[in-house]
Amino acid sequence: MRQFAHGAVELVLGNIVDQQTEAIVNAANTKLTGGGGVDGAIHRAAGSELKELCLQLPADEKGRRCQTGHVQTTTAGKLSAKYVIHAVGPYYNEQYAEKARDQLRQVHVLALQAALSFNCRSIAIPAISTGAYRFPITDAAKIAIDTVGRFLNSHTGIDLVRFVLYKQGQFDTFQSALDAWQLQTGR
Ligand code: APR
Repeated sequence: MRQFAHGAVELVLGNIVDQQTEAIVNAANTKLTGGGGVDGAIHRAAGSELKELCLQLPADEKGRRCQTGHVQTTTAGKLSAKYVIHAVGPYYNEQYAEKARDQLRQVHVLALQAALSFNCRSIAIPAISTGAYRFPITDAAKIAIDTVGRFLNSHTGIDLVRFVLYKQGQFDTFQSALDAWQLQTGR
């Protein structure tokens, strides 16, 4: 657990669906109709109500309910969280790496803003885009930690941001990013 100006960042090795935070973030796709990885685990644990809630959101002509780099919030079905913040991270393509980095930063900021607007003081976030969307984990960890650290230093209202990492190697990479960020900023 590391304290920033207005809230703490915690890293845990575990499953996103087991978290008792007020909000949990889903690593979703633009259609919000479920998938594998985090998305599959959250939909299975939340029950069919979550999919129904997602399907109620307006879709464009291609069936997209949330653009890449954006979020949509629903209640959480059977999960103990109050809200699921469905976050669509970028699919990583080396040719457009800078755009993907910007979208990954943005999706973290928008997830935190959504938590604030739904009065959630605690939020659990997976390693968005680092699975099926192939974002390199070292870079993703730096972006996620840096974005959340800056946010907690400049906004009040969120007490806890918990990154939930599924594999030991991912946990270690996030730990290094958190340590490096603190060294770099002298905190
Ligand atoms: N809890 C926490 N982390 C998990 C879990 C879980 N239950 N399951 C997988 N992970 C980890 C993966 O190891 C990976 O590092 O979450 C990270 C994100 O992986 P994905 O779930 O594949 O998410 P993402 O890369 O953002 O891809 C999103 O995958 O399933 C589809 O519908 C989803 O199309 C969307 C895409």
